[in-house]
Amino acid sequence: MKFVLQAGKTMLISGPASLRLEKGSAGVFGAPLRLKRNLIIRRERQLPIETVDESVFDAELGEKASYLEVDGSTVPESWYLAYEAFQKLEAGRAVVIGSTDTGKSTFCTFLTNHTLKQRDRIAVIDADIGQSDLGPPGSLGLSIISKPLIELGSSNVDAMVFIGETSPGSVIEKVIEGIMQLQTRIPSNIPTVINTDGWVSNDEAAAYKLRLLKELKPDLVAGLAESSELDQICQRSNTPIMKVKAPKFIKARGREERRSLREYGYRKHLRDAIHKNFSLENLKVDCLMAARPERGEILGFLDGEGFLVGIGVLENLNRTRRLLRAYTSVSVRSVAEIDCGRIRLSFNGEELGWPEGHRPTTRRT
Ligand SMILES: Nc1ncnc2c1ncn2[C@@H]1O[C@H](COP(=O)(O)OP(=O)(O)OP(=O)(O)O)[C@@H](O)[C@H]1O
Ligand SMILES: [Mg+2]
Repeated sequence: MKFVLQAGKTMLISGPASLRLEKGSAGVFGAPLRLKRNLIIRRERQLPIETVDESVFDAELGEKASYLEVDGSTVPESWYLAYEAFQKLEAGRAVVIGSTDTGKSTFCTFLTNHTLKQRDRIAVIDADIGQSDLGPPGSLGLSIISKPLIELGSSNVDAMVFIGETSPGSVIEKVIEGIMQLQTRIPSNIPTVINTDGWVSNDEAAAYKLRLLKELKPDLVAGLAESSELDQICQRSNTPIMKVKAPKFIKARGREERRSLREYGYRKHLRDAIHKNFSLENLKVDCLMAARPERGEILGFLDGEGFLVGIGVLENLNRTRRLLRAYTSVSVRSVAEIDCGRIRLSFNGEELGWPEGHRPTTRRT
């Protein structure tokens, strides 16, 4: 369908859809849309297309896609205030916290795009191991970004750290250390945004977020909230938390959609995977051996500095002959260390869960 959108309006499109700007000037979260380029909006996503001048679009809507025209912008005013505070820090470090579906990833995209109007580069660390935008689920990712983007997931990932879990509860130390490790890869004098997972609602989650803030010592903490869900963290944090509104027009995702997004992430990183044999003779495998992984468990292949090169799925581990067979796309020569996680996958990247009584109980964090 073709549609015309007047200046100063927003068209909210919920996928699956594809959209083309035929004429005019429009953008998404501060990133300009390019003329005559197809923009794909996935089933689980919604994008607000904001016009600068009257614009003409050509859109194809898939099954269950929807659209809604609204006056003005769907970006809350408080996002701009947070951006101004971040900008004033020059090359500051911001941590973004908030419950699931509050717009955390989008807020990071918004900060990125607006910052790039003033500066050449910005670093984004994605520490949301469940709904990862950078790197596969169960990992932390870093991107040094120099061009505005419509979604974080479309940028190149410059470094990754393997965690091996999609919920942070049992891997808190590992996540915090991993963020520190990624920070060593950020050139000096670059503003940095760190996104976090949406686990904030109970005492344990609050303690984790407070610990993270204490260790990372950010210059700014942006707390995305609809109502009082961050109050406990705000009251107990030594770093003041800037409250930022969760947008009114969020597209919330259910369990199945979250899982489908994770599986999309595994598949992307298992693309071009084949069955490969690894001799463990000269590799660091202490964690792998201690964890006694089973067939189907996710593997992290790390380089000599402990950064994740790529993931794989365990086929077989022969402890006596010190041989490992895995489904992966990493090159055998790039690997110095192999770690394993507690995610079970099929070779197609489907999450398999654990059969009754099979889930390993002991685990280092
Ligand atoms: N200001 C906005 N206007 C319109 N849609 C928005 C806005 N902010 C976010 N959305 C949409 O709402 C959905 C959820 O947002 P987002 O992924 O940023 O939330 P999140 O807090 O990162 O979620 P998760 O907990 O799954 O990581 C996305 O499809 C996003 O495009
Ligand atoms: Mg997110």
